[in-house]
Amino acid sequence: MEPLVMDKTHDESRQGEAYAGISHIPAARKHFYIESYGCAMNFADSEVVASILQNEGFAPTTEPDSAELILINTCSIREKAEQTVRKRLTEFARLKKQNNGLLIGVLGCMAERLKASFLEEEKLVDIVVGPDAYRTLPSLIEEAGSGQKAVNVLLSREETYADISPIRLNTNGVTAFVSIMRGCNNMCSFCVVPFTRGRERSRNANSIVDECTRLLNDGYREVTLLGQNVDSYQWIDETTSTVVSFAQLLERVAKISPLLRVRFSTSHPKDITDDVLFTMKAHENICNYIHLPVQSGNSRVLQLMNRTYSREWYLAKVDRIREILPDCGISTDMIAGFCTETEEEHQDSLSLMEYCKYDLAYLYYYSERPGTLAARRFKDDVPLEVKKRRLQELVDLYRIHSLKSMQRDVGKICKVLIEGTSKKNESDYFGRNDQNKVVVFPKQHYKPGDYVWVKVTHCTSGTLLGHVIQNEN
Ligand code: SAM
Ligand code: SF4
Ligand code: F3S
Repeated sequence: MEPLVMDKTHDESRQGEAYAGISHIPAARKHFYIESYGCAMNFADSEVVASILQNEGFAPTTEPDSAELILINTCSIREKAEQTVRKRLTEFARLKKQNNGLLIGVLGCMAERLKASFLEEEKLVDIVVGPDAYRTLPSLIEEAGSGQKAVNVLLSREETYADISPIRLNTNGVTAFVSIMRGCNNMCSFCVVPFTRGRERSRNANSIVDECTRLLNDGYREVTLLGQNVDSYQWIDETTSTVVSFAQLLERVAKISPLLRVRFSTSHPKDITDDVLFTMKAHENICNYIHLPVQSGNSRVLQLMNRTYSREWYLAKVDRIREILPDCGISTDMIAGFCTETEEEHQDSLSLMEYCKYDLAYLYYYSERPGTLAARRFKDDVPLEVKKRRLQELVDLYRIHSLKSMQRDVGKICKVLIEGTSKKNESDYFGRNDQNKVVVFPKQHYKPGDYVWVKVTHCTSGTLLGHVIQNEN
């Protein structure tokens, strides 16, 4: 079963998205085609890669057939993510047969996990590059161009690509991702990310503020600050010997301009602080929305998952968010059928969901990942059909809550940042409100990037519908 996905930082509809055109790139000798899978951080990385390649005289193309270099930025989070990439590679084999000089490179988490063995398993691949080695792409391309296979999967403790100005791919010109850190130091037992992305490191706060300011000046109106665990962001400013925390970074970005909306993802329940919540409260342009993945509603399972909090701790965190930010949207990730999970423990996940009444949820069944703590220590003993049935129960309950959450907004007026034309109706725009809910309304004379006040008149389980009553600008 497909995970339920409704957030653009987890947007399944973007999986496999290819670059779709930028106008200001000068004519170049060679063209690259890039396709991205996985989380928002991978999509942001593809924009760093595009910048590195552009400096080498490559220009992006939307057509794999007209590229001399095809790159696929991969994800390893679940087995299915890897299967999707392998299937896509077989489709590129046809192009390779037609064009002997075509180079195919695999980037990202799957490249890091499989390393040089990728070249053995997928003979058409010429280049394998891990997430911390993108600066070496030009030399790897040269090596591969001379007929050798090229690999660099070295992880770094310092690399943040802070000085590289990403080239926005597939941009709507309104919203952008900004990476604020890389890697992860948590060792959630089910998760492959610490192995594919390496140690956690925080990016220079000044370079983050500069990038967000540039985005604002280029007409963007929303930034999403990205990290696997943004609340553990910590950067030491050596010129002043001060430590910048996530709350302080958030405040600095929020102060750039009231016109720039700020979002962030992901928050780890063990690390999110009152400071962050009060900073959100103090700044109208920091969106009232927190992605707070719980993974399981049972304390024994959470312990096996090595999440380092209990059910009670998590619920207290949710209460605290609602106390400080009563209107805050809260979303989660949950895994059904983790190793040894009993029927009663699954019921705990349902009852936790009942308590939290999430606005959004990203729900998966457990997929064992080679090399993780869980794969080494625990038996993946919940049968697939049981995992799927438990997932379905989570999905069914979540749907009830999300519909109710949408229905609560009918009749209300909300501020929406217009992102673009609705996929379903050319004469409508879509945008998001503060709580990250998608809002659709007739275009009238407005344009993407405008803030408008929308009166919500009806809803579906995933969308609020209404009409503009006032322009903010
Ligand atoms: N850093 C985030 C956090 O701590 O919550 C999550 C990052 S991970 C890229 C996104 C989600 O994928 C996780 O929250 C988890 O629910 C899910 N996930 C990770 N490993 C998984 C696995 N082995 N099987 C199923 N789902 C998994
Ligand atoms: Fe994976 Fe846990 Fe790190 Fe999130 S916090 S990326 S789930 S190890
Ligand atoms: Fe992201 Fe997938 Fe890697 S979720 S960090 S691209 S394993």
